[in-house]
Amino acid sequence: MSGWRLSRHFLGSTASVREARRFVTTFLSGWPVAETAELIVSELATNAVRHSASGRFGGRFLVTLQAGQDRLWLGVLDEGGPSSPVLRPDGPDDEGGRGLLLVSVLADSWGVHGDEHGRTVWAVLHTETAAALRVASCR
Ligand SMILES: Nc1ncnc2c1ncn2[C@@H]1O[C@H](COP(=O)(O)OP(=O)(O)O)[C@@H](O)[C@H]1O
Ligand SMILES: [Mg+2]
Repeated sequence: MSGWRLSRHFLGSTASVREARRFVTTFLSGWPVAETAELIVSELATNAVRHSASGRFGGRFLVTLQAGQDRLWLGVLDEGGPSSPVLRPDGPDDEGGRGLLLVSVLADSWGVHGDEHGRTVWAVLHTETAAALRVASCR
C-alpha cells in the first residue's frame, strides 16, 4: 500500500477518545471518509479504554492511520487483557454492543489481531464515496 502512515499514542482515559477523534479529523480533513473514520476510531478507542488493559492507570492506546491510493487503514492497538473484541452474537441490548456492530457496517473490512498482551482492532475504508454515504445512512 503506497501513501503515508501516521501513529499516535493516547492515554487510556475517556478524555483521550475525543483527542483521538480530533487526530483523525485533523489528518483526514477534506477526505470523503473523514467522518466515517472518526466514528470508527471513536468506537475502537472507547473499547480500548473500557475493555482492555489500556484503561488501567498509566495505560495507553495507539491509533494508526495508513493511507493508500484507494483505501484507508485504521487501527487501534490496545494493551490487551483477558477479553477479546467480539460482535455480540445476540446483537445490541440496553447494556451496549453497538460499537463493533457499527464498525462492521461502516467499514469495508475489519478484524482483530493480537493476544492478551495487546490487540489491534483494524478497519479498512475504500476511499470512494461509498463509505461516506454509508455514514449518512447510519445517522
Ligand atoms: N479492545 C477490546 N479489548 C477487549 N475486549 C473488547 C475490545 N473491544 C470490544 N471488546 C469486547 O467486545 C464486546 C463488544 O464491543 P462493542 O460492540 O463495542 O460493545 P460495548 O462496548 O458496548 O460492550 C465488548 O463488550 C467487549 O467484551
Ligand atoms: Mg464499545
